[in-house]
Amino acid sequence: MPTRVWRVHGTTLHVAADDGPHWWQVDPNWADETSWNTRQSAGALTAHPARPEGDPAPAPLGCTGGPCPMETWDAVRARRDVREFRDTPLHDADLERVLEAGRRAPSAGNLQPWDFVLVRDRDRLRALSTVRQGAGHVAGAQAAVALVALVPADDEQRSILAFDLGQATMLMALVAADLGIGTAHSAAQDQAAAQEVLGFPDGRFLAFMLSLGHPAGRPLAVITRPDRRAYADVVHLERW
Ligand SMILES: Cc1cc2nc3c(=O)[nH]c(=O)nc-3n(C[C@H](O)[C@H](O)[C@H](O)COP(=O)(O)O)c2cc1C
Repeated sequence: MPTRVWRVHGTTLHVAADDGPHWWQVDPNWADETSWNTRQSAGALTAHPARPEGDPAPAPLGCTGGPCPMETWDAVRARRDVREFRDTPLHDADLERVLEAGRRAPSAGNLQPWDFVLVRDRDRLRALSTVRQGAGHVAGAQAAVALVALVPADDEQRSILAFDLGQATMLMALVAADLGIGTAHSAAQDQAAAQEVLGFPDGRFLAFMLSLGHPAGRPLAVITRPDRRAYADVVHLERW
């Protein structure tokens, strides 16, 4: 029986089972579903004894803590702002993966206008939680990534910077969700306090923070009815 879905490749499902990796052929009618247990009980899976020819071995996803890895689409639908966290420490490898995702983010002109300060020290997290009214969740997080950037020269740079930082933040949040780790955003206000805590050089500022930790309440799971405007309200086809 599969115990962990690694990834779906066409109609091939890669799973980790108790006795090692397996590859399962999926009925194409089920290929965009994610309820693997249901599929199995419905007989939609047939065991594949060996890796299909030409298909590379799946890279282990390295989930060192928390629930099993998700597919991207699941992570997109499961991510939400989590503001209360368990005491369980986060694994170094998971945090490195989150930061690596931020490092790989695209940016205007590939300028990569960011530095990421990883904070895990409880006193420092508490101090950071005071730099803005809405930053309270940082105090109880297992870690926070502080996104530090050069002070923009003008409004155009400011808006491009915000876009770039948003993309880096989102990638980190998604990769965290993929590992079952909750995240929460915070903007920053008191720059003097932020600089005191983080020690970044003059000419830079704390733009945003991302709290990280395993959710204290319900674990991350696909949200079927997200608190969002209706699809038809948001999406315009061809013209407004
Ligand atoms: C630019 C930006 C700044 C935000 N600042 C804060 C903040 O200071 N404190 C906070 O608790 N949440 C903050 N949030 C989180 C939003 O409130 C949250 O994304 C929104 O309510 C949707 O939540 P959900 O994704 O859990 O549905 C911020 C989000 C963004 C994108």
